[in-house]
Amino acid sequence: FETGLLAGLNVVITAGPTREAIDPVRYISNHSSGKMGYAIAAAARDAGARVTLISGPVVIPAPERVHCLRVESARDMLDSALAQLGQCDIFIAAAAVADYRPMTAANQKIKKSADSMELTLVKNPDVVATVAAHEQRPFTVGFAAETQDVDIYARDKLVRKNLDMIVANDVSMSDIGFNSDQNAVTVFWAENQQSFAQMSKQALARELVELIAHQYQQTQEQ
Ligand code: C5P
Repeated sequence: FETGLLAGLNVVITAGPTREAIDPVRYISNHSSGKMGYAIAAAARDAGARVTLISGPVVIPAPERVHCLRVESARDMLDSALAQLGQCDIFIAAAAVADYRPMTAANQKIKKSADSMELTLVKNPDVVATVAAHEQRPFTVGFAAETQDVDIYARDKLVRKNLDMIVANDVSMSDIGFNSDQNAVTVFWAENQQSFAQMSKQALARELVELIAHQYQQTQEQ
């Protein structure tokens, strides 16, 4: 791991879950801890990059010497990501963005009355796909958490979202992935793939940064 690997480059990373308001006190979210994205931010910083971390609500502390932008909803995350594109060489989307949000967020706390209630959800914008479709498109890396046919779904996402690389993990194994301190992944790009056996998220983050930096440099040489 060379410390100057990403020297002079701006790296933007999304991490953590998003929160989609139902009313002023309630929301829809998920169990993402933010650990993988935060570890990548620290590794990219150690590789010499200027790092901006766009983070949903998490309990872990922001890495030192990383510019941290805190957001709540998927739409906040998208606005924040788009605002970075003038100065972004590499975009890494590690966030677990909520796929749907309540169509409307009530202005006041919803009162309990009927025995059942319906919540209409609408699809959130896809942050990484929007970034990858932008005219100021950075080198774009996504994640894919799958429970089956990991390679098929990951490759499909790579193409559909117009990504340069995708990092796939099998979340059907409970000791790795979401909320765990360990992870094992396979990275897919172009006609290639590389698997990383189970290790700490810190160690994996350094491996990923090295691989991403290498692929990024190849695109610059073309
Ligand atoms: O489609 P899926 O959620 O599985 O895709 C995962 C990848 O897409 C991750 O990189 C995630 O950060 C990104 N994503 C996003 N915005 C969404 C949904 C997913 O950036 N609304």
